[in-house]
Amino acid sequence: MKQVDLLYTGKAKSVYRTDDPEVYIMKFRDDITAFDGEKKDTLGGKGSYNAEVSSFFFRYLEENGIETHYLGSIEPATFAVRNLEMIPLEVIVRNVAAGSIVRKYPFKEGDRLDPPVIVIDYKSDAHHDPMLNDDLIYALDLVTPEELDQIKAMALTVNDVLSEYLDARGIILVDFKLEFGKYNGKIVVGDEISMDSMRLWDKETRASLDKDVYRFNKGDVMETYAGVAKRILSPPREESA
Ligand code: CDP
Repeated sequence: MKQVDLLYTGKAKSVYRTDDPEVYIMKFRDDITAFDGEKKDTLGGKGSYNAEVSSFFFRYLEENGIETHYLGSIEPATFAVRNLEMIPLEVIVRNVAAGSIVRKYPFKEGDRLDPPVIVIDYKSDAHHDPMLNDDLIYALDLVTPEELDQIKAMALTVNDVLSEYLDARGIILVDFKLEFGKYNGKIVVGDEISMDSMRLWDKETRASLDKDVYRFNKGDVMETYAGVAKRILSPPREESA
């Protein structure tokens, strides 16, 4: 399989076509953005930490029976994925109140959300990713009710699997965003699962271990990404102690 031409450039990733029409290559760049692209920087090494963590989580989800677009690692910041027909939804699962949900609703930062809250945004830069509800999703003809049920169920399963994994490493999965796409009519998890798409807090100190460090100038972003990637890729604390 050979990389051919650039298909798409996002805020932090580029997608390339290959000589196999079923396979794309996803490259995680060192660019980081926040606040709808208003804050921008390039941080050397960031792409490979996010790609490494994403690759790991995709493999882990597959081991746990959840299908994803992941096919295999190529280089530290690059992996191969299936060519999906993407669904323009940003499916956010929240276990603890933080970020926009605290700004928009009377939650206090740190409130436990049990059962988890699913929020779905419309993935559209032109419309600034507005929040959807089920009726809007059907009116926009984005997915069928059966597909939406399946997407929500998959998002909650991913949440259970990742929350438990991270908890064993002293990390709280506060919230995260998933994107889905279709492959041969089947809905699978696409995009990335990285420090840019999750909110992670240290269980003991509640310190941010994710893109909030960049958004709100909470410390050294690369040191945080390197540290949390190492924790994620290591055995549980009990075993490693
Ligand atoms: O706080 P903010 O407005 O940035 O976003 P949020 O709606 O509170 O985001 C919830 C979670 O989804 C966070 O972990 C974000 O990093 C992630 N997210 C993302 O990865 N991409 C987006 N376009 C929006 C949210």
